[in-house]
Amino acid sequence: MGPLQVRRADFLMALAYATDLATGHSRDFALRSCVLGMRIADVAGVDLQMRRSIWHQALLRYIGCNADSHLLAAAWGDEIALRKELARTDMGNKAELGAAIGRAITRKFPNLSTDELAAAIASGLAEAPQINIPILSGHCEVAQRIAERIGLPDDIRENLGQLYERWDGKGMPRGLSGEAVKFPVRVVTLAQDAIALHEADGQEIMKATIANRAGGGYEAPLAELFLAHADQLMVGLDQPVDRAAILALEPQPHAVITEEGCNEAFLAIADMIDMRMPFTFGHSRAVASLTEAACKTVGLPPADTRAAKWAALTHDIGELAVPVATWMRSTPLTERETDAAHLHPYHGERALSPLGGEEGKAVAALVLRHHERLDGSGYHRYAKGNDLSPAARILAAAEAFQTAREARPYRNAMTDVTAAAKVRAGVREGKLCAEAVEAVLTAAGQPARRVSAERLGGLTPREIEVLRLIAAGSTAKEAARQLDIAPKTADNHIQSLYSKIGVKTRAGAALFALERGLVN
Ligand SMILES: [Fe+2]
Repeated sequence: MGPLQVRRADFLMALAYATDLATGHSRDFALRSCVLGMRIADVAGVDLQMRRSIWHQALLRYIGCNADSHLLAAAWGDEIALRKELARTDMGNKAELGAAIGRAITRKFPNLSTDELAAAIASGLAEAPQINIPILSGHCEVAQRIAERIGLPDDIRENLGQLYERWDGKGMPRGLSGEAVKFPVRVVTLAQDAIALHEADGQEIMKATIANRAGGGYEAPLAELFLAHADQLMVGLDQPVDRAAILALEPQPHAVITEEGCNEAFLAIADMIDMRMPFTFGHSRAVASLTEAACKTVGLPPADTRAAKWAALTHDIGELAVPVATWMRSTPLTERETDAAHLHPYHGERALSPLGGEEGKAVAALVLRHHERLDGSGYHRYAKGNDLSPAARILAAAEAFQTAREARPYRNAMTDVTAAAKVRAGVREGKLCAEAVEAVLTAAGQPARRVSAERLGGLTPREIEVLRLIAAGSTAKEAARQLDIAPKTADNHIQSLYSKIGVKTRAGAALFALERGLVN
């Protein structure tokens, strides 16, 4: 296994997908705005440095916007619905902004009388600046810190600190105006508004709205330049965008990160996810450290341990699709909310799909399975044990244990002892893997129990490696050679493995590996 080299752009696209979900934007919104921003850069004839800044600003504009979502939800209810509306609202226009906030309060309190609702809207509007400005300042700061942690330079971080600033000084949080608002910020704000307005109202109304806001939200010459080329600039932007298109648009030199950089990027994503609500703070890091330690305890191959750790850091990235107001409620979810919540592993896999290569695929496959159970009682695909690799079993056990010992709005945190009893009950019920659970509990400092059940999936780590090589096309002899098994004993070794798993041929073993999720 050579040193890992990954395009940083892959991580930025994963972040972009997650923030599109969290902000109620449509599929590939950030990616489409990146394409549009770069087209505007072409007609504006800007230099390479400016192109690089626009490319990053479009993908990353909202990476800080997950912070303090619970405060936003406490004030305005369903924050994803509100953000969806704000995407096409002229935030400098008090009447438009007031109407959007009024509709949010109406959604939040569906049962108030007309008078009560009017009073709630009046007090909401009066308090809006005190509520919104600190939250938006927080978004800017978090965006800048995440950008620093994924290795982005000063100028890009500075732009991310100006998320909602406007040409006319009516933006937030600092009310910057004119040239003090950086050019990439102005371009991307215009590009993203154009896409949101186009989706909501069509091309002609979008153009009229942009023209109307020229000199207000947007610098007039920039709006005029956009409008002069709008029809050609918008071509194809109502379609999803290929990952390859974004990779190709990245100005040279293309940023590449190593394994260490990946670790930092995954940690940054974990923190971004967990900052959304107070009771999930540190959840992803805790699941990751239990998962990594448990994988080492049972002796999984290093590549599996690494994929499991990275999957643990990002397992709940798909939760961003569900409004915080839903997660924060202490009453049971409705059926529709449960359906939406149960889809978060699906969204997680989709978010991580830009991560190319074997490593990326392995991480996405584990995220997809993190709520599955051996008996098929998990979600959302109702996968069973034969689809759950050792790493998937450990991640599921670590997630279950860690969640049990954290508080949720509808229950208190369990003690470690109670949480351990809960996951061991999961083993007795046939849902969780015995060895995975014991390895996680050992990692958590709980007294270990002897596991009488068979090893993970019935296989030793060495046997898993043999099967993986065979599934990848190696002959039994080649697999033995790669694993330093003496040639003389190779045949016996492989034959005894084949009989253990009940297959006769290399192809049978390859299929077995596939079925058991050993090949991601
Ligand atoms: Fe989850």
